[in-house]
Amino acid sequence: MHKLIIYPDDILKKVAEPVTIFDEDLENIVNEMYEIMKKENGIGLAAPQIGLSKRLFVTEIEGIKLTLINPEISYSQGSVAVEEGCLSFPGVTVKVDRSNVITISFNDLKGKKIKKTVSGLASICFQHELDHLNGKTFIDYLSPTTQSFIIRKLERMKNGRA
Ligand code: CO
Repeated sequence: MHKLIIYPDDILKKVAEPVTIFDEDLENIVNEMYEIMKKENGIGLAAPQIGLSKRLFVTEIEGIKLTLINPEISYSQGSVAVEEGCLSFPGVTVKVDRSNVITISFNDLKGKKIKKTVSGLASICFQHELDHLNGKTFIDYLSPTTQSFIIRKLERMKNGRA
């Protein structure tokens, strides 16, 4: 069983590896990711957040589940900014400028290529999760001072738990 990784952690700063094998192991990982995401009340969870440096994430937005493997954004338009949360940053929200509309290509669990155009919350969520696959988190959009404030807060919290 994998556990949710809380920032700071090196795996959250690493560029994840493409998924090349679409087998039962992959399906088991994805099922586990949905379980962890549900337990933590999230709408998106990327594989590095459970300690796996693989290019995939799961989302559940307005009751619709979607698994995106090897995702790539081919088109983006407009801008939107909302306060985002992240399961790896408990209690932290950050307002990030994102594209409002994106076209995203990805593989499904069977390896089939899929292309989707989404806007609003789904677009914001997919961009946030795709950042995780590139070793980027939402605090990277903040000033260094604000970043270190958040990191210190999370470190104190982690030490308190240990
Ligand atoms: Co996140």
